Formats: sequence, structure tokens, C-alpha cells
Amino acid sequence: MSTLTSVPNEKITVPLIRARKVRAGAAPIACLTAYSKPMAQLLDPQVDMILVGDSLGMVLYGFDSTLPVTLEMMVDHGAAVMRGAKRALVIVDMPFASYQLSPQQAYQNAARVMAETGCAGVKIEGGAEMADTVSFLTRRGIPVLGHIGLMPQSVAASGGYRAHGRDANEADYLVQSARRLQDAGAFAVVLESMIEPLAARITQELEIPTIGIGASPACDGQILVTDDMIGLFQDFKPKFVKQFAQIGAQISTAVSDYTNAVQRHEFPAPEHCFGVKPLVPVATSAPVTPMKAAADAKAGKTRRRS
Ligand code: KIV
Repeated sequence: MSTLTSVPNEKITVPLIRARKVRAGAAPIACLTAYSKPMAQLLDPQVDMILVGDSLGMVLYGFDSTLPVTLEMMVDHGAAVMRGAKRALVIVDMPFASYQLSPQQAYQNAARVMAETGCAGVKIEGGAEMADTVSFLTRRGIPVLGHIGLMPQSVAASGGYRAHGRDANEADYLVQSARRLQDAGAFAVVLESMIEPLAARITQELEIPTIGIGASPACDGQILVTDDMIGLFQDFKPKFVKQFAQIGAQISTAVSDYTNAVQRHEFPAPEHCFGVKPLVPVATSAPVTPMKAAADAKAGKTRRRS
């Protein structure tokens, strides 16, 4: 039987997440994405890890892919999320072309993200081919969350949005990649859009936790894009998303109610307006001239009708 390994008020750290293997009795790690302070405030008491994902490019900015996302965007949204998160571990995605050139480029940009946001670590897409870069970062004190399987930054090269690991060569490459990332010091690895038995096998083989998205219930944790999970992002819904709420529909209803209320002169009502209730001058024997009323008001001698 699994036991919870964190208590609600405990600050979640990288070593705490690294130790969360379900087979060792830990509760699965709950992760979601956030791009803003208010969303971070809502998620923070409830989840173990918040990812400032570069999915913000598609979800928030309306780009067709994550490729146009810049380091500046990740820094700005990462800093906003950090202002709303007190307890959960916050990890910021490294955007396309900010880390692939060399380990040195990756270090320079990851260090900037950490210094300017205050986040706990960064996520990097890539398998065995990124292991040297991950090792370069982790040996210099930058915690890294790996990401293999479907990697949105390289969908063009890998044949679009599809499940990974069906073919034996690809499955072998993914197992090797997971091991190499672990050996390079990654504290956990995201498995995205991967056939279920392969995600379960990688989870079984690794000492570090796996975090699945479209992968397997056997993973040590799960992550979804919050806007997908609450039904706010409506352009498309990947097969692996479960909508736990229909916030988009609720917003539509609220906006329609608002417009109707405005058009029917029902909003704003008196309680939403200032100065509707007349000021009553304090009783005085002298006639109240405008100048006297102004002087009384300045001296605090008027009060609102209760
Ligand atoms: O960018 C993102 O939000 C992600 C998660 C979906 C894992 O990479």
C-alpha cells in the first residue's frame, strides 16, 4: 500500500521528488502546468510540482507550435509563477534553441532562468543525445528534469504528434535514453505519448521517478497541461487528456450573463456604484450653503445615510 511522502504544508524540494518512487511506497507525484501567478496560487497547495511549460506558446500565445517561444517569455512567466508558489516545486522549461547548441549555451541560459525566476530547476527535451548537456548542468548545480518520447520541440523531425515506442528500435532508444538521463543526474524524467508497456518498463528500470503524460498509470507521477485538464484550452484535446472541469463553458456562460445584464440595464446595480446614496449634512442651525457643505465635508462632518 502506498503512503503519502509529503505533507500538505511541506516545501517540496528536488531531493524529495527524486525519492518519490511508487514501488518504494511513495504516493504518485501530481504535477500540472502554470504560466501565471493566479494559476500558481490555485495549484500550489494541491500539487507536488508546477511546470512552467513552453506549451504556453500554443496555449497562451496561440502559436502553432512551441518553437517561437523565447527565453524572455519563459523568464517572465517563470517569475510570475514563482510569485504565486510557496510550496510546490517549480520547474521552468528551456525553450527551443536555448540549450541544443552546446552544454555551455545550455548552462548560460539555464543559469539565467534560475537566477531571474528563482525556480528550482529546468526541463530539457531530449534523450541520449542530450545526456552530456544534462550532466554538464547537474554537475554545476542546476537540477534537470528530462523529457523523452514525444518532444514537441522536435515534432517536425519525429513525424508529428504520435505515440512513441511502437517500433523495437525506437523502444530501445527510449530505454537507453532514460538510463543515460538518469546517469547524467536528471532528478526525474517526463515520458510523453509513449506506448503504455514501454512507459511501465522504463519506470520499473529507473531509480529516478518517471512522470507520465499520455504514458502509463504505472509512472511515478502524472502531468497534464492545466488548461487542457480544466477545459479552458479548446482548440483540440489530445487523447490522453481527461477534462476534470469545463471552465471554458463556464466562462462562456458568465460572459453571456454579463452581456445580457448590461443590455437590460441590470448591471451595474446601485451597490456597484459610488455616491448613489446622498450625503446628509450634520444637523446645524445655520443654512447649508455649498461653501459651508464643502467646509463641513473637509472637516469630516458629513456621514453617509446608513
Ligand atoms: O510544455 C509543457 O507543458 C510540457 C508538459 C506537457 C510536459 O512539456
